Amino acid sequence: EYRSALVGTGCQLPGRVFTNDEFVATIDTSDEWIRTRTGIRERRFALPSETASSLGIEAARKALENCQLTGNDLDLIICATVTPDMMTPATACLLQSALKCRHIPSFDLTAACTGFLYGMSVADQFIRTGTCRNVLVVGTEILSRAIDFSDRNSCILFGDGAGAVILQATKEPNRGIRSVNLFADGERQRFIQVPGMATITQPGEQPIKYLQMNGREVFKFAVQRMVELIHHANEEAAKLGTHISMLIPHQVNQRIIDAALESTGFPADRVMVNLDRYGNTSAASVPIALDEAIREGRAKKGDTVLLVAFGGGLTWGSSVVTL
Ligand code: ACO
Repeated sequence: EYRSALVGTGCQLPGRVFTNDEFVATIDTSDEWIRTRTGIRERRFALPSETASSLGIEAARKALENCQLTGNDLDLIICATVTPDMMTPATACLLQSALKCRHIPSFDLTAACTGFLYGMSVADQFIRTGTCRNVLVVGTEILSRAIDFSDRNSCILFGDGAGAVILQATKEPNRGIRSVNLFADGERQRFIQVPGMATITQPGEQPIKYLQMNGREVFKFAVQRMVELIHHANEEAAKLGTHISMLIPHQVNQRIIDAALESTGFPADRVMVNLDRYGNTSAASVPIALDEAIREGRAKKGDTVLLVAFGGGLTWGSSVVTL
């Protein structure tokens, strides 16, 4: 029976560092407000030449190098993004070409900030059935092109970036993806919206042009779901005869993480946080944090980590992975 081992990771952040102070020129805010309410100090924004595909390609190259594979070794590409270069071709097809892959299936998937976990889950199915051996899963976003820079309730939260992983079929037990849990609640579709080209509006409604978010409602939802997912993962890990050595959550707001830790008792020193430097990079957030945790030596081979994400849809999910 095959399992999906995590054999390579990589990430790419765009060059432009945008500090909290730089918002002060256009909106009524302050570095102090943003830092104390979110924990974010700065984020990266794409240069005009950068796109979701260009960042994704670099992240994917690093992930391939990390496990000494080439594009030719891949059997499937899944790219999670809500800010694709174009609706078609899929960003995954742009990656497939740049990485010089064979004519392997390549497609995009949208589940907002939970997109990367949805992508990992789909990849896991292809590997478990024996259909694919090596799968590239990428989360990449250029949210700076979707946010309203005059809306102080949302624009301060987001950043651009890409993260990638290579999943590989293994027969080794107790390794790789141990569980994935995915959820969606379309009843709360209006809490986070990013318009598309064919966005429909109700009669009398103005079409939205930019990302819109009900911050307070999403905050409450995020804490509640994180608490549930952490409790559930602790139980799953115990059944598997292990424990969660590190939590790698979706990076949005330090207060969301703190509230979830307080409620679950999960120790803060075992949580990967980089939102202070990158803000919320949506589908890219979890794979970037995962890559940094591994490269910094904070998460090591043999460790069991918990990935948790929540976002537009609303969607949420988690995955327990033994490195
Ligand atoms: N600077 C200064 N003041 C601000 C700012 C700002 N940037 N933003 C809001 N305020 C004001 C508000 O206008 C409000 O003023 P009022 O009391 O006079 O009305 C006050 O600050 C408090 O506003 P709240 O919305 O209650 O602020 P809160 O503490 O909830 O922080 C935030 C807002 C940071 C957006 C928070 O709600 C949050 O992090 N929500 C979660 C977002 C999230 O998880 N998104 C993930 C998914 S995104 C995706 O899927 C694409």
